[in-house]
Amino acid sequence: MKLRKITDIKEIRGELFLVRVDYNVPIAHSRILDDTKIRRSLKTIRYLTARGGGVVLVSHFGRPEGKRNPKYSLRPIGARLSKLLKKSVYFCDAPIPGSEFFGNAWETWDGQVTLLENIRFYAGEEANSANWARELARPFDYFVNDAFASSHRAHASVAAVTKFLPSYAGFDLADEVENLERAVQGSKRPLVVVLGGAKISTKINLIKKFVKKADWLILGGGLANSALAARGFKIGASLVERTQKSAVSSKKIILPVDFAVGDSRTRRFVGIREANPKTRTICSGKEAIFDIGPKTMGLYKKYLAKAGTIIWNGPLGLAEDKRYARGTQEIARAIGRARGKTYAGGGETVMEINKLKLGRRFTFVSAGGGAMLEYLEGKKMPGLKPLIKK
Ligand code: 3PG
Repeated sequence: MKLRKITDIKEIRGELFLVRVDYNVPIAHSRILDDTKIRRSLKTIRYLTARGGGVVLVSHFGRPEGKRNPKYSLRPIGARLSKLLKKSVYFCDAPIPGSEFFGNAWETWDGQVTLLENIRFYAGEEANSANWARELARPFDYFVNDAFASSHRAHASVAAVTKFLPSYAGFDLADEVENLERAVQGSKRPLVVVLGGAKISTKINLIKKFVKKADWLILGGGLANSALAARGFKIGASLVERTQKSAVSSKKIILPVDFAVGDSRTRRFVGIREANPKTRTICSGKEAIFDIGPKTMGLYKKYLAKAGTIIWNGPLGLAEDKRYARGTQEIARAIGRARGKTYAGGGETVMEINKLKLGRRFTFVSAGGGAMLEYLEGKKMPGLKPLIKK
């Protein structure tokens, strides 16, 4: 896939750029836990501002569902960006459309940078509203998409906006596409896909797709719980979503065989459990599965060692809690050691890889979670389509 890149713009002389970034970074108690996504946007911002362009950044954060909610403000992220860029970043929370927004955008000139407040505060964003996107685009000369991690979303600041401005790919987005394209073209067998995490409903559909493509599909986290429940296991108060048995019945799907179980409310560790073969009970009452157990780690490592290509997205347990991070960390290390080509992506996954300083051991670490999986699965992405060179 050949994309129109910002380096294709013949001359930049003080134009105004609307740049879509993905600053949906992991945050706990107002502290940024991993700033990979912010760092990866710096090259594009520097390139444009060094040439006198004005850069207005637009991003979402969390899922505020079209309403203003201070919990999801991008303000703390603007402060980190300013530190990393070593220059002031103006913050604009004026309503869109509106004269104040228009004025703030126009005042961003000669190498200056403005960050807009969370774009998901507007209903028009997720509705991919063309009318609203036209208003968002109005002050600008160009649109740049540097948000690979959001490009699977048909949202206004990713898709509809491209109807109103000449649109180009930023450096990080282009880099993601080039690297993942290599994974698609040259994926050596066996292909092992490791899926975990909590965004169950999005990923259940991906399981159906990857069952066709992969040789083995290894599950952890809420996704494994849902598959176990669908296969008739009792899992107490574990995180789960109702799932059809047919979606998870393939023999290619490998599920955990033992579990770190804790109290669902206090998370106090209770013990390592295996399913009772008679009652098919793993845990009951207020107990919940929080991580994979040691036997499962051993089993999963055998598959990873044999793999020609590994694709990993999502923690295998409640990795943000130290007591339940072991499964994710053991699997991260095992993938780091694997001989095959290794691709990983997603906010929490990247955070764990960085914590363990394993980044260099992977063939490629993508900032995209859902986006990476959809790209590898061969889906047409609404944010990439308008950037393809004709
Ligand atoms: C991500 O973190 O994967 C992206 O920012 C997309 O977020 P979303 O799943 O809320 O659209």
